[in-house]
Amino acid sequence: MDVSIVGSGYVGTTIAACLADFGHTVRNIDIDEDIVTTINNGESPIHEPGLDEKISAYAGDTLTATTDYASMHNSEVVFVALPTPAKPSGAIDTDPITTGVRSIGDTLNETNSPPLIVIKSTVIPGTTTETLIPLLESTSNHTVDDDLDVAVNPEFLREGTAVQDFITPDKLVFGTNTPHATDTLHELYTPLIESANPTVIETGRQEAEFIKYANNAFLATKISLINELGNIAKDHNVDAYEVANALGADHRISEHFLRSGVGYGGSCFPKDVAALIYAAKSKGYDPDLLTAGVEVNEKQPQRLLELLDEHGDIANKRITVLGLAFKPGTDDLRNSRAIPVIDGLQDRDANIVAYDPVANDALATEFPDIEYAASPIEALTDSYGTLVVTEWDEFAALDDEFNAMRRPLVIDGRHVITRRDGITYEGLTW
Ligand code: UGA
Repeated sequence: MDVSIVGSGYVGTTIAACLADFGHTVRNIDIDEDIVTTINNGESPIHEPGLDEKISAYAGDTLTATTDYASMHNSEVVFVALPTPAKPSGAIDTDPITTGVRSIGDTLNETNSPPLIVIKSTVIPGTTTETLIPLLESTSNHTVDDDLDVAVNPEFLREGTAVQDFITPDKLVFGTNTPHATDTLHELYTPLIESANPTVIETGRQEAEFIKYANNAFLATKISLINELGNIAKDHNVDAYEVANALGADHRISEHFLRSGVGYGGSCFPKDVAALIYAAKSKGYDPDLLTAGVEVNEKQPQRLLELLDEHGDIANKRITVLGLAFKPGTDDLRNSRAIPVIDGLQDRDANIVAYDPVANDALATEFPDIEYAASPIEALTDSYGTLVVTEWDEFAALDDEFNAMRRPLVIDGRHVITRRDGITYEGLTW
């Protein structure tokens, strides 16, 4: 099939490359000329394992990129994969997506057989029906559910494993209002359905929009629940990871997303939970559990700092932060737990030295006044205490390096360092 994808962030770029791999002819449309040039040169515009290989295999052939919306004229499917960033209130900012949808509508004005429009972006339930469809109808002169189909097909791709998540999904969610839209999505995803056998959920557009928020809210709150249990466990000299092993053996709970520690970050969980809380309140409902989950998440970095405080004053002492990215495999610092940890160390007048295998430069723009080390050993040398914030593999391999510390105290927020003789080790929830 001929597919256009508007927006080339990690979602749009990953979907484009994977759909090309499934034999479709795919076009990335983006207003950013640098992104377009990079894709056409056969390279990935973002760091995402496996993406470079797929883009280089199809670029210039069945995968192209352009800034020109008119290029979608022959497409049977047009994905909208534009960002929906958070406003300070928690509400989503729909400006990027409405701008893109308006351009799509203007383009479709010229065509008698418009493509299926598929909303991939994460939007609050009702946005497609109340905002995007009226916009498409007024700009395109087509009537939705009559001669123009619109579907909602949320994504469940994790940063850092987006390609793998795309080709081995647990589920596909088709939110549609016509059989033609459902059939078109089935045809598009046939190779994926045949190879990975995901559960295909056919539902309404509004339900599909909600499923995405429910998924992220559930996982984020699951992390906060294991963190809360972990905090209580630690106070009772119980190892929360032993407890999580047992919990995970119960298929009703599942072993995933039970890693307790310094909390969740990234661009998705914090943004989507905040947007769902905002949406709930806008209808007069107070989502107490979701709100409590956010509070627990904010508490975890403070607990890491409090464990450090128990070992004495750190004013003017050299303190090491290992790991800055919000999770391993990315240099993304959005809502990274390293940020409140460093804020807290600055409040305590510590001399901070930070190390991350890929995110040092990104953090330096936000915290220009702290020291950045080029290696773990450099970060550990002469340190009075180390806080571990991201579970990079290379931290698990650290051993004799801790001997370089002036006071070998390790407070581990991610269950990544192995306890060993010669260091004072504290786990956050174990
Ligand atoms: C998340 C979801 O997992 C994806 O399904 C979704 O598509 C994506 O958001 C999105 O909405 O676009 P992502 O934010 O990339 O993906 O990363 P995750 O791997 O889910 O991790 C999120 C945070 O939770 C990280 O800070 C991680 O360290 C933390 N986490 C995860 C824990 O603290 N404990 C766990 O057991 C698992």
